[in-house]
Amino acid sequence: MFKTRITEMLGIRHPIIGGTMMWITTPEFVAAISNAGGLGILASAIYETRDGFAAAVDRVRELTDQPFAVNINLFPSMRVIDNRDYVDVLVEKKVKIVETSGHSAPEDLCERFKKAGMTWIHKCVGVRYALKVEEMGADIVTVVGYENGGATGRLDLGTLVLVPRVVESVKVPVIGGGGVSDGRGLLAVLALGAEGVILGTRILATREAPIHEKIKQALVRASELDTMLIMRSIHATHRVWINEAAKKCAELEAQGAELGEILKVVAGTNAKRMYDEGDLDAGILSCGQGVGLTHDIPSLQELFERIISEAGRISRKLTAAAV
Ligand SMILES: Cc1cc2nc3c(=O)[nH]c(=O)nc-3n(C[C@H](O)[C@H](O)[C@H](O)COP(=O)(O)O)c2cc1C
Repeated sequence: MFKTRITEMLGIRHPIIGGTMMWITTPEFVAAISNAGGLGILASAIYETRDGFAAAVDRVRELTDQPFAVNINLFPSMRVIDNRDYVDVLVEKKVKIVETSGHSAPEDLCERFKKAGMTWIHKCVGVRYALKVEEMGADIVTVVGYENGGATGRLDLGTLVLVPRVVESVKVPVIGGGGVSDGRGLLAVLALGAEGVILGTRILATREAPIHEKIKQALVRASELDTMLIMRSIHATHRVWINEAAKKCAELEAQGAELGEILKVVAGTNAKRMYDEGDLDAGILSCGQGVGLTHDIPSLQELFERIISEAGRISRKLTAAAV
């Protein structure tokens, strides 16, 4: 067991956060993560209507009595999402933990989180963003290094430097990630001063992840060399799994293609088709370098227990070795 300010503040058994994943962190997956002792985060951006989103929040509550969070997406999106509608639902439904990710958090939303007494987590990739949201009242800051799956931002800082730099710069507790896939990663990130870890890529290869079995098998076969960065030319750098869609995107970028052409390849609807039907080249799959440490498809509970016990073992070994 690892008890930290993060486990205390969020009321979770393990200092493990399941990262928001578009189309993937559905009510069922979120509840499974929370039931396994981590914190599941529902991706509000999956829902196109206020009622659909409200029903999803209810569904999480039907499936778990454990703490969960909801993500409000602040990245540019191909759909127009009015985050104010989502926040109305969070307030109505008395959701206790909210995560924002993406470009700097708008003050009006953050004031509403605070007024409603929510615990507000902001996810970012650098010290200056962390300091900004701390000043705005964020209760917890999550930072993910350049190894991570999904948006990597512009700073290109690896987890080993980013996490301690943020820890020494803010007073609020920090969740760290980017490449964490096992107990070694958990212990390393805690040693850097974070009080919890965030996992995205690793939990794709779990029994409960709502993606096609063929994708899970492909991730188990993949190595740490099987990711690439795309969309830098449109200021939306993402680390993704190398497949035909990712290569096509890189090719279009190299040719200086129109934005519309690039967006056609990276459209979320292609990714959704890939997740549902198992067509491995249909769309973009965000994927971090930690995929090289992903060797099997356990249940979430097995994975979290394995991570915790491995970290405990290494910690005891290191303590004994420190003379
Ligand atoms: C398939 C996938 C989809 C993701 N989608 C989102 C998203 O919609 N919003 C978000 O804030 N982060 C997203 N992320 C990032 C994760 O929430 C998390 O920060 C990241 O995966 C942690 O790094 P790791 O992949 O090295 O574990 C996604 C990651 C993956 C792998």
